Amino acid sequence: MLRNFIKRILRNFYNDNFINVVDYFAPLKGSISQSGFKIYKNFFKNEEFINQKKILCKKIINSNKIKKELTNCEGLGNSISFNDHLLYSDFLIEVFNSKIIDDIRSYLGNGFKLDNTYLSVFNTFNGEVENRISSGLLHHDSVGHRVKMFIPINEKGTINNPTIYLKGSNKIKWKNFENIENKERNRINEQQIKLYKNKEKKLGLNFNDILIFDTNGIHKGCYENSNQNRLIIQFEFSNHKTYLRGQVGPGSFFLSPLIFDKLKELGLLRLNRCTSHNKQILHLGNKKRRSIKKLSDYFQI
Ligand SMILES: [Fe+2]
Repeated sequence: MLRNFIKRILRNFYNDNFINVVDYFAPLKGSISQSGFKIYKNFFKNEEFINQKKILCKKIINSNKIKKELTNCEGLGNSISFNDHLLYSDFLIEVFNSKIIDDIRSYLGNGFKLDNTYLSVFNTFNGEVENRISSGLLHHDSVGHRVKMFIPINEKGTINNPTIYLKGSNKIKWKNFENIENKERNRINEQQIKLYKNKEKKLGLNFNDILIFDTNGIHKGCYENSNQNRLIIQFEFSNHKTYLRGQVGPGSFFLSPLIFDKLKELGLLRLNRCTSHNKQILHLGNKKRRSIKKLSDYFQI
């Protein structure tokens, strides 16, 4: 126990200093600079792409294996995440051909990388709101500036389960990046939250919208009971955070040749982590982010 305590102290010391040094160089300019987030309304317009999203969603919703695993998910807001979705989501090429990438670059700086991507199916059926998981409480992600992108796949988007964000909290300089729950289930000091009391924004997405936000800002997922699952493709982008300890840095995921070529052209990949096999490219994550779940093990694609 003492060993774990010392380990935690050392890890926090290392992370806090590491984050402060590399974040010092983040330009934090562009369209998410002021608020910490941006929603691209009605982004997907191409009918064929929209259909591809609908088909993928239908297959996930109809999968008995996924349904069964979700029923066993304890805690409202828990999720099952898949790492091979880019093999079946070529419609995402439109995202990487767009201004969204320039907006992220203006914020994180040249040389930022795609750390990880996964398709998450959230449990919004079982459990009580009071017992929701920790990411349903106001928090930051303990990794300094890092941009997440949410692309909803289910028809109602996240309108019933929006991300809540305290506008402008993205620029807080945290003294200590750790923010685990206390007994009262708070993760952020109440004084700090009060400062942003009138700035709470509900970032609900419609089916064709996209959200990007800085996870250094105070946020939470809203996992209230809903009659539709929350299905989101998530992307994580950061700069100079390969060697940070914790839930950041390179993750494991598969890419199709089309998406691989585009991301390579944009300089968003760590090419030394990519290996190719049977027209599938695997991006291998660091030690703690190596597990892989495949949609193809759950239904016929
Ligand atoms: Fe978070």
